[in-house]
Amino acid sequence: MAKTNEYGIGQYTFPRGWFMVGESAEATNKPSSLRYFGRDLIMYRGTSGRVVIMDAYCPHMKTHLAKNDTSYVVLDGKQVEGDDIRCPYHAWKFGPDGICNEIPYSPAPIPKAAKIRSYPVQEWGGLILMWHDEEEKEPNFEPHPLPEWDDPKWVNWKVDHLGTLDCHPQEIIDNMTDKAHLGPIHGSTDMQYFESECKGHVIRQVLAAGHRTLADDIMTNDTWYTGPGILLSRMNGYYNSLMMICHTPIEDGSVRAWHGLTVQPPNFPMTKEDEAAVPAFQEGSKLALLQDFEIWANKAPCISIMQVVGDGPFGKARAWYKQFYNPRKEAKSLQSKSNGHWVTKGTERDPWPTAAE
Ligand code: FES
Ligand SMILES: [Fe+2]
Repeated sequence: MAKTNEYGIGQYTFPRGWFMVGESAEATNKPSSLRYFGRDLIMYRGTSGRVVIMDAYCPHMKTHLAKNDTSYVVLDGKQVEGDDIRCPYHAWKFGPDGICNEIPYSPAPIPKAAKIRSYPVQEWGGLILMWHDEEEKEPNFEPHPLPEWDDPKWVNWKVDHLGTLDCHPQEIIDNMTDKAHLGPIHGSTDMQYFESECKGHVIRQVLAAGHRTLADDIMTNDTWYTGPGILLSRMNGYYNSLMMICHTPIEDGSVRAWHGLTVQPPNFPMTKEDEAAVPAFQEGSKLALLQDFEIWANKAPCISIMQVVGDGPFGKARAWYKQFYNPRKEAKSLQSKSNGHWVTKGTERDPWPTAAE
């Protein structure tokens, strides 16, 4: 595996943006430990329902806040109080903002440095997203809206946990503009168009082609990343569907990934055939992604692509990705190097459809 600085992406090791770190059901009033962005983190759900993610170590004496089963703080069920968390060692209490608000035994004022880094969190489509930002600023974009999630005509995704990949996320982002893998990997035939667009923090790909596993005719795909870690794809194959792929850095050069597919069966309520076909369709979508996964899991790092005519605009996707690895104040000028609509030779069509966002 190669690291961020070997790809020359930018000055930060890990990108800025919203990232999946688990499913909603994984956040409970028992704090759990997470490892992302090269950091030990903890997650819990406060009494109000709010999910809190913060660094794992207490500033007092560096106790791990989630790895304890024997302290009386934990045994007495006192670790999470309201939306606050108490350290198992000396019972200092921290708010969801990470600021210490009680040292039970000390008469002195609470030190200013008694603070843990806490991260913006939101729940989206049954997933827990956290905002990672080396500059520790508030989010400056939101995940794409997901109206299908509350729509009874759609069958929500069940999350497939695809595990970890010893592969830099740059290699996954490359897939976004990779026209030439669609035939060999996914069985795409009769490609009618393949176009890419970069617009600020969003990169988009639209294509129409056959697909050996998900369609019996031409299937259209409209796929976009909102930021560096969350992909959505609208597909019209046997069924209308919306695919989610999330990937989140663990260490510099490794990621964890998830997949899910929401499906709109043709009948509402669903027929018996739909009930059987929807899970099979979801499974088919996962298997299609695993075709990419096998490549990523075994390839060597590609620091520089040997681009030939007929390849998609890899350089634009790599330029787009840089904005997340550099200070926010440089984002506009970095975006200007990729912003635009890019047509891969031999597949042009008109008009370019309304943008996904
Ligand atoms: S180490 Fe956390 S309260 Fe002392
Ligand atoms: Fe692919």
